[in-house]
Amino acid sequence: MIDRPARAGDIDVWVCAEPTEASDTIVRRALSRYPGVSAAANRVDRDARGRPVIRGREDLGISVSHSNGLILVAIGQHCRVGVDIEPVMDRGLTRLRYHALTDAELAELELHDRSRQTEVLLGYWTRKEALLKAVGLGLALDPRLIELPPANGSPHPLAVPDALGRSSDWWIVGLVLQGYVAAVAADVKAPRVRLLQLTGGSTGRAALLSARDAHARGVHRGVSTR
Ligand SMILES: CC(C)(COP(=O)(O)OP(=O)(O)OC[C@H]1O[C@@H](n2cnc3c(N)ncnc32)[C@H](O)[C@@H]1OP(=O)(O)O)[C@@H](O)C(=O)NCCC(=O)NCCS
Repeated sequence: MIDRPARAGDIDVWVCAEPTEASDTIVRRALSRYPGVSAAANRVDRDARGRPVIRGREDLGISVSHSNGLILVAIGQHCRVGVDIEPVMDRGLTRLRYHALTDAELAELELHDRSRQTEVLLGYWTRKEALLKAVGLGLALDPRLIELPPANGSPHPLAVPDALGRSSDWWIVGLVLQGYVAAVAADVKAPRVRLLQLTGGSTGRAALLSARDAHARGVHRGVSTR
């Protein structure tokens, strides 16, 4: 069970390795880790654009991302939340950089050694996708309308389109997971974020959480439950 009461702005990012169940089941399993929340009572639905929602629990923001044998589920208390994960592998990402990055972001990317560029590009991409999922629009919105600082910069976007309100209302941070680049975004000023491993019901690869950089930015490795 979770070791502390949830408060507004808390975000838990559950990491499920080698999932054998559908994402809805994994979301419900993560929810059942909270005191007083039963998995059976929470049916995962979708809003008109595909964002997962729990009917009757509008206080909970839910986001899901799948990648290469991993599922991340972010649960935000009284906030909109988005999560995204990508494996770090060089797989012809040239088109992605022009599809996803603004001119300033491209220039920053090119300052990095070639060997680091895939990770840096995926850092921009996952932070943008996490934000677009938190908004609930997904890729219906052009990611180049969002401008982000470098990964070690401010957690707030530099610019967002009008549909997203003010940049300063959004918070985005990259997560460090072995072999993956991931990010979480929310409409909270300074969230308390934890990374938690969701075990049981999966064949369970060894824990892959290495909150190295994330820790420095206020993301904490949480308790590992059951
Ligand atoms: C959401 C989206 C960014 C998914 O990205 P992806 O990298 O392919 O896949 P991920 O595994 O990271 O995310 C998939 C999850 O996103 C979630 N999702 C789907 N649409 C979403 C939306 N509009 N807002 C927030 N989350 C959404 C779902 O939970 C889905 O997982 P599930 O089906 O198991 O529940 C993309 O599918 C999208 O933009 N969809 C909606 C907008 C659209 O239809 N655009 C036209 C295409 S350009």
